[in-house]
Amino acid sequence: MTVDRPAVPQAVNTPLTTAAQFLVLTVRPGGEAAVRELLPELAGLRRSVGFRAPQAGLACVVGIGAELWDRLVGGPRPARLHPFQELHGPRHTAPATPGDLLLHIRAEQQDACYELAALLLTRLRGAVDVVDETTGFRYFDKRDLLGFVDGTENPEGGEAEAAALIGAEDAEFAGGSYVIVQKYLHDLSAWERLTVEQQEASVGRTKLSDLELPEAVKPADSHVALTELDPAADGTERQILRMNMPFNSFATGEAGTYFIGYCRTPAVTEEMLANMFLGRDGDGRHDRLLDVSTAVTGSLFFVPSADWLAAPPAAAAPPASAEAVAPPAAPPGPADGRAAGDGSLGIGSLKGLGS
Ligand code: HEM
Repeated sequence: MTVDRPAVPQAVNTPLTTAAQFLVLTVRPGGEAAVRELLPELAGLRRSVGFRAPQAGLACVVGIGAELWDRLVGGPRPARLHPFQELHGPRHTAPATPGDLLLHIRAEQQDACYELAALLLTRLRGAVDVVDETTGFRYFDKRDLLGFVDGTENPEGGEAEAAALIGAEDAEFAGGSYVIVQKYLHDLSAWERLTVEQQEASVGRTKLSDLELPEAVKPADSHVALTELDPAADGTERQILRMNMPFNSFATGEAGTYFIGYCRTPAVTEEMLANMFLGRDGDGRHDRLLDVSTAVTGSLFFVPSADWLAAPPAAAAPPASAEAVAPPAAPPGPADGRAAGDGSLGIGSLKGLGS
């Protein structure tokens, strides 16, 4: 397909919201057809939910992992698509964990995130497994659970698009992006034992006022020092677009930061990660934040443009051994009412009451 206008991206570059739902899915053998059927319908489904809650600013981005790409799509491949590369530093590890599809759903209202997630998962029932599910929330003035403002140095406007969206370097996939996600669990007790000055030295910024520490006092192994990259040889900035969110479970005791970084090439995010886990130029000095933050997941996805999603190219030939999955059974759970085809909200216990 040739288009005479730049490809329209997915909603990669939208402001940080108060709520987010991160879903990492694996696709069962034979589940590819259900995924392919859903992709062109995503925009319409988002509109259906978002139109009912116009103030929510509901957005959904879908990413496709390297292994699934080859099962799903025939023809050319995004130039830099590969699986997440595990990192083993002297003290800390960034593991690679399974992930074929990423759904990054965000809104100003958790109910809108929930509704769209439920709708999409109902459509994919029998074809996918949810391997990680994180509900993110805004913590006061965009702070992480360590108490620091997170997202300040994100590029904005045109600079954000230049950082996050593929351009002429891979024209076939222009308007696309790459995204890396990692779930970090914080040791909040250990963090709280540090003084505020020690915490600020770990991050590289002041805690209350969120100002970058002067170069003279900012430690070389602070988070900011290790994630700030020099510009490329031609002077262009090497930045990523982060949409991190805090999450928590009192039941499991897990509290942390869901890291999500979009970039026009995964190489930039990967260099930041290498600095954090292996040290700058491999000097072995890790990011101090890692002493209180353990990465428990890690996946890399290609984020096609909205135009690509609306009309994906022909399917990959199915492998000879692929077994068809059974058609989705009538689903139990939250979306039942809608699955029944009555178009109602499906709030079962309210239906029929007093009417
Ligand atoms: C900056 C928190 C993981 C890349 C920051 C800042 C905070 C923060 C508080 C300072 C304010 C700001 O500019 O946003 C965290 C936490 C993480 C985490 C709690 C997980 C435990 C990561 C990862 C990467 C990353 C995995 C990249 C692979 C960056 C970048 C900056 C930054 C590029 C801006 C640096 C600058 O130019 O000043 N992060 N971050 N962060 N972080 Fe992270």
